[in-house]
Amino acid sequence: MADPLVSVAALLAPSFARVAGRDDVDPVVRPSDRAHAQANGALPLAKLLGRNPRDVATEIVEAATADLAGIATLDVAGPGFVNVTFDAGFLAAQLAAIASEERLGVRPAAPSEVVVVDYSAPNVAKEMHVGHLRTTLIGDALVRMLDLVGHRVIKENHIGDWGTPFGMLIEHVIDLGGEVGEIDLTDPGALYKQARAKFDADDTFKERARNRVTLLQSRSDQATMDLWQRLVDQSADYFDVVYGKLGVLLRRDDIVGESFYQPMMPAVIDRLDAAGLLDESDGAKVVWVPGFQNREGEPLPLIVQARTGGFNYATSDITCVIDRVERLHATLLVYCIGTPQSQHLQMVWKATEMLGVLVPPARAVHVNNGNVLGDDRKILKSRSGEPAMLLDLVDAAIERGRAIVAERSPDLPTDERDELGRQIGIGALKYAELSTDRIKDYVFDWDRMLSFEGNTAPYLQYAHARIHSIFRRAGVDPVDVRAVVPVLGEPAEVQLALKVLAYDGAVAETLERWSPHRLCTYLFELAQDFTSFYDSCPVLKAPTDELRTSRLALAALTARVLAAGLGLLGIDAPERM
Ligand code: ARG
Repeated sequence: MADPLVSVAALLAPSFARVAGRDDVDPVVRPSDRAHAQANGALPLAKLLGRNPRDVATEIVEAATADLAGIATLDVAGPGFVNVTFDAGFLAAQLAAIASEERLGVRPAAPSEVVVVDYSAPNVAKEMHVGHLRTTLIGDALVRMLDLVGHRVIKENHIGDWGTPFGMLIEHVIDLGGEVGEIDLTDPGALYKQARAKFDADDTFKERARNRVTLLQSRSDQATMDLWQRLVDQSADYFDVVYGKLGVLLRRDDIVGESFYQPMMPAVIDRLDAAGLLDESDGAKVVWVPGFQNREGEPLPLIVQARTGGFNYATSDITCVIDRVERLHATLLVYCIGTPQSQHLQMVWKATEMLGVLVPPARAVHVNNGNVLGDDRKILKSRSGEPAMLLDLVDAAIERGRAIVAERSPDLPTDERDELGRQIGIGALKYAELSTDRIKDYVFDWDRMLSFEGNTAPYLQYAHARIHSIFRRAGVDPVDVRAVVPVLGEPAEVQLALKVLAYDGAVAETLERWSPHRLCTYLFELAQDFTSFYDSCPVLKAPTDELRTSRLALAALTARVLAAGLGLLGIDAPERM
């Protein structure tokens, strides 16, 4: 238990239970500006017991003092708060303990689970646009955190690689002589647009496209399957370019698209039928999922097989849940998808729950997100008025990062400048996304995200690099002070120590709420606390050698937490800027 606030809460709990006569009362330990922390739970408890809150707080303090010996002292304050003041020696020992750990105090999840994270999920023969920025980055950050806390994480890129558009796409490719060619990175949806234009203008082409869909669905014609595969491969190349530049973890092996589930669907329909869940409505096979209504207030069916016999998006997602739970043995299914798909997911999950598949311990969560907006408060657009292409944003971020470095550090060798520029640009793009509450929309603003001031990646990267520059000036390798137990005398030292130790709690809270912006807020506060420390506590000119080493150790640990935290967001932390 690295976070002292968590330790104190655990140590206070028995005393709260004793005074309350029950063991379900939360001590409610929170950071405080009056003391190191404050336990606020005595107030609601007093209300519950119908007693004077100060009396209750006093009784708790008396009961808990012995349990907290050597860790913290307690005082009753105000109407019945319990102020917590940590022992400097206790905090120092905790710091030394986390410094000796690779995970810097982050506790492993108990139990460790198989977690599937469904994220990014672009569509074949279409461009990746600004909407995919969010699901890709949020998913990637969560994957890194889930992995850190010891889950077995399976990344799945549920690409749209099946369905009726492939009929016209394949026919169009046949007209081109069977060649899909290299992807046009400036217009990855080019083939789609050409095929669509023909489809709309030419009835014989339309007919051909329809027949081709049937052939594709039967999976019986090798030539059709080859052409389809070429289209999928071409798009996968493009996705790889985007993921590579963006520095996200998704690889080709992680692609488990809609097509993967197609062969299993007839059996799923049978299974729904056998469970008595299948009904017919307007010739289509449907599942009536209770609790969902259309605009007219009538029950809304989940269509799993069209009148024509074709399966759809819902069928593939139902099959996907079954596959994740039964084949992969996942107990937690995380879906990073935009808010508009919420109802679709809820209906799919309910259907699989009724089927007895998505039942405890297995469960699913929708990590939804809002939109990225332009200055006009509409979805961010490119110059041509289409939703902005993700690759354009990524390239522009790198270019802008490089321009900043060229201006700030003209003396760096070119290759170092290019790499640093990339780290700053991509970092800024990612952090702007991840530091925003994912549920909300946000306005895309290059100047703000690339600023070295405020809650931005460049600010945090710079704070990290600055600590390394202190070590360069000191001629000390940060690794060499790792085993030092710091001395915490000044309030700014204690403040920084408490923040460093709260890293574990920040990661836990981020995962609890599936909200990367919590970790961002933590890192921003950490960088600020470091600045206050550095302003008030001389490091290189510390009054004694012991204090100098102690402060270097505190600085080194801060830098490690900053780098690790940025790493969890997929952001590089250069040592020089
Ligand atoms: N391809 C879909 C889209 O672009 C997202 C798929 C998300 N994942 C899923 N299991 N439905 O909207």
